[in-house]
Amino acid sequence: MFVDNMTIFHFVVLFGVYSFAGWLIEVIYRSATQRMFINAGFLYGPFVPIYGAGAVFIMLLEYYLRDWHLAPRIIIYGFVLTLLEYLVGYFFEKIFRLKLWDYSDSRFNLHGRISFSFTLAWAILALVFMVFIHPPVLRNVLNLDTFYIKMFAFVFTAYFFTDFLSSVISLTQFRERIAYLYAEYFNLDNIEIERIIDSLRRLSGAFPHLNNYINEKINTRIKSGADAFLKSVQEKILMEIDGRRPYEDEFYEIIEDIYKHDEFKRLKDYFHHNSSIYEHVREVAYLSYRICKYLKLDYRSAARGALLHDYFFYDWRNHDEPDLHRRKFHGIEHPKIALSNATKSFTLNKIEQDIIKKHMWPLTPIPPRYKEAFIVSFADKYLSSREFVDEFKKRINKRLNRRVQSKKTDIN
Ligand SMILES: [Fe+2]
Ligand SMILES: [Fe+2]
Repeated sequence: MFVDNMTIFHFVVLFGVYSFAGWLIEVIYRSATQRMFINAGFLYGPFVPIYGAGAVFIMLLEYYLRDWHLAPRIIIYGFVLTLLEYLVGYFFEKIFRLKLWDYSDSRFNLHGRISFSFTLAWAILALVFMVFIHPPVLRNVLNLDTFYIKMFAFVFTAYFFTDFLSSVISLTQFRERIAYLYAEYFNLDNIEIERIIDSLRRLSGAFPHLNNYINEKINTRIKSGADAFLKSVQEKILMEIDGRRPYEDEFYEIIEDIYKHDEFKRLKDYFHHNSSIYEHVREVAYLSYRICKYLKLDYRSAARGALLHDYFFYDWRNHDEPDLHRRKFHGIEHPKIALSNATKSFTLNKIEQDIIKKHMWPLTPIPPRYKEAFIVSFADKYLSSREFVDEFKKRINKRLNRRVQSKKTDIN
């Protein structure tokens, strides 16, 4: 684990090697869970320094605890790595006021910064590290000529500080850009929004939790814009959606070719929330159309994109569908499926494509590029929750009625 003739240069080299190994682990883990390539970590280069630091800590501890039994050592290392994770999370939150990861949803977590299941994972990783990884790595590093070790240590240190500094700057800019985006959202044109969102992409890809931060900020903005409008006409729009009043003629004119397409009509056969996909997308399209028209956005693309946002032909509660990945991936997969189905039957512009592809954001990691896409994802969530509320009310009423019925029969 630790040899007396090791110098500080060896430590720098090992820190670099294990930061790189950590980057590999993170890339594999995040790319597998998000099903796309994700460049992990907050540095530009392929290094995640928290792993390098963890490895160095374990090497030092091993030096002092090497005579102990393996079991208590593993437990201690699990806790030390967890403590490291907690401190790094804490300092990022204090300094940058950004939460890079959040375990709040998992059981036994502390402030969302650490969680028991990850402590277990770190302990296992520490064991694998001590038994299988570190001994051969150390042997090879010690075999290297001191000249190379020194050279690598100098080059790596110079690189590391440059990357670290520029990454810190980009993290600070991240917050500033979102604040700017938030304040100017409705004054910026789509190209400018696209440029800003592009610049946020690397960090929000590496730390999916940051998407929630952007989403919250922008959603509040859209909500306040949409709310002002909705407040005055909500009742009217809901009546139109519920069929108690006719939709605007212009809406039908915009969606006509899609709406009358035979393939599109097949959506009637598929369940969605408490109705069919057909009804659901029509409602989302109409609400998006009205909001975008009010906000002077491209309401045509909004209506058409929204109409196709759930253009998939299966019942999402049934996971035996051939083109759907098994189990819980419907949420992440269906935008892609919908887009590929839609492009087969219709010609879509950039905004319409973006609407379909990004409507599940922030569940899918790349944020929408166009305001219209934000509006549709807002309308989708708004109406879905309304649908769920209605469905919930119906169920409760049914249950109450049943109870009343059974009481009546009891009395009889
Ligand atoms: Fe959807
Ligand atoms: Fe939807």
